[in-house]
Amino acid sequence: RSTQLTHTVDDFESAFWPDESPVDNAVVMTMGALHEGHAALVRAARRQVGQDGRVAVTVFVNPLQFGAGEDLDRYPRTLAADVRLAEEAGADVVFAPLPEEVYPNGDPQVRLTAGPMGERFEGATRPGHFDGVLTVVAKLLHITDPDYAFFGEKDAQQLAIVQRMVADLDFDVEVVGVPTVREADGLALSSRNRYLSEGEREQALVLSKALFAGRDAAAQGPAAVRAAAGEVLAGAPGIELDYLALIDPHDFTEAPDDFQGEAVLALAAKVGATRLIDNVRIIVR
Ligand code: PAJ
Repeated sequence: RSTQLTHTVDDFESAFWPDESPVDNAVVMTMGALHEGHAALVRAARRQVGQDGRVAVTVFVNPLQFGAGEDLDRYPRTLAADVRLAEEAGADVVFAPLPEEVYPNGDPQVRLTAGPMGERFEGATRPGHFDGVLTVVAKLLHITDPDYAFFGEKDAQQLAIVQRMVADLDFDVEVVGVPTVREADGLALSSRNRYLSEGEREQALVLSKALFAGRDAAAQGPAAVRAAAGEVLAGAPGIELDYLALIDPHDFTEAPDDFQGEAVLALAAKVGATRLIDNVRIIVR
């Protein structure tokens, strides 16, 4: 027997695992209440792995990522419709485990932490949220063992943190981001939109309007972007702004005033009792 010396992870893997898996597989993780945004992830997954590949959708409302007083108990559960939507979008399988299946020993003692990236923006208002997200995403990656995992840009901080987890902890999966799907009038699709009254639905439009105004100012630099978006939000009725920020997507820090390149303009706001988030990707000059 000859011993092959390898120095890179890639070389090690082709030496240790010489056989390619016969088909590619992809996973789309969700909390259910599926809509066209989730469908876009499933379609992107299908495109990625081809007709012979396998696409799984997980549906699990993860208690670990909800804080006290958040909407865990009233989070919409629509499994039969979810299976139909997943099927129409091209999934081979839906995995909808019970909490006891995912957490057989009760709350896990050992968890992942998102670190400082999980403490800003969404993490500042929802302490522990991203630790709960990462813990379940890691578990579901281990359970499903996909080649690809698809996440929406709608949850930009989540996408950045999952990408960082995969890189920092050597998860053997390619994370793919998918652009945000919006209603014709601009509102980003969200399972939580169904909490909005008709009036609130109208008021919520100012969120995407502000982001688009910021995007239109991208050529004038970071300060102009923040000002343009802030102006649209100022005094908007029914909106309680949590944050509006121009963010460096790599480490999810606030972009400095001389920032140039790809950035995320993100916001979170309460519309009535419903907390919504949205963002746009822009190239700042
Ligand atoms: P959930 O909110 O159900 O979202 C599941 C996936 O769909 C996420 O990757 C999210 O970014 C994406 N998504 C939601 N709305 C979208 C839209 N309008 N356009 C494009 N993509 C959209 O995010 C979670 O669940 C959970 O935190 C989870 C990752 C499943 C872990 O519990």
